[in-house]
Amino acid sequence: MHSTAALVAGFIADEFSYEKFDVPPQDLPQFMRRFRDGPLTGLNVTIPHKMAVMGFLDTIDPTASVIGAVNTIVKTGATLTGYNTDAYGLIKSVKDIGGIPDLSGKKVFIYGAGGSARAAVSGFIADNAASLTIANRTPARAVEILSRLSPCATATKAIGFDDRKTLVESVATADIIVNTTSVGMAGGGDPAGLPPGTEGLREGQIVMDIVYSPLTTAFLSTARANGAITVDGLWMLVYQGARAFEIWTGREFPVEKARAVLLAKLGEG
Ligand code: ATR
Repeated sequence: MHSTAALVAGFIADEFSYEKFDVPPQDLPQFMRRFRDGPLTGLNVTIPHKMAVMGFLDTIDPTASVIGAVNTIVKTGATLTGYNTDAYGLIKSVKDIGGIPDLSGKKVFIYGAGGSARAAVSGFIADNAASLTIANRTPARAVEILSRLSPCATATKAIGFDDRKTLVESVATADIIVNTTSVGMAGGGDPAGLPPGTEGLREGQIVMDIVYSPLTTAFLSTARANGAITVDGLWMLVYQGARAFEIWTGREFPVEKARAVLLAKLGEG
């Protein structure tokens, strides 16, 4: 995706390359020292380093601070700055692909309470959602996310997967529903798996899954069968990458071309 973007953005050979580094947790300090002193100018960071890496940076963007995780780093002179582009990627997907440019006043329902859910919560609050319900298998984690929020106008509620009646009711009354759990992900657990409460899905809702393999999860096909507008997780991957690319290079990212590259990789092109 980034290599294609670099070509489209006009970089020539040797000016831009995007490579993968496998860094065990105990090697992170040494890796970050080498990054600081070496020729690379940008990084993406993924599991399990998104929180730990914050201790090796000079500046942290306010959005990343609120989320408590960094996925993009840029080196400017001697300064390392950390950003989080996940919230941007998720919210941009809901707005542009879901066709709902203004999220103010909307009722939002989020499955999951991990790092992606934190990014989603911060994004929806920043965009003035009217209410946010977080449902998680382990309800204490949903409560914990909400307890860390600064006072805001968005009404919040945490529920567990066991509370079936409240789950179905909350799903049914939501305008936007996002799955941030790994339920339904290929290669882990049950690819036909559904989060609980999907009986509440209905026509006109915007339903997003952050899982992108398979591209159409069981959750999204159930939502579609119930008349919802669906947004797949590949959009979030593309848009978080778009923001990262723009932070690193200052150049525009070719969203459609990048998505086509990813679709081809997934065998969906
Ligand atoms: P990420 O950073 O991608 O959000 P994470 O922090 O590991 O990843 O969070 C994974 C989320 O998926 C959590 O909400 C987790 O629920 P728990 O907090 O109860 O662990 C959820 N999850 C993972 N596997 C699940 C499953 N089989 N059923 C329901 N929820 C699941």
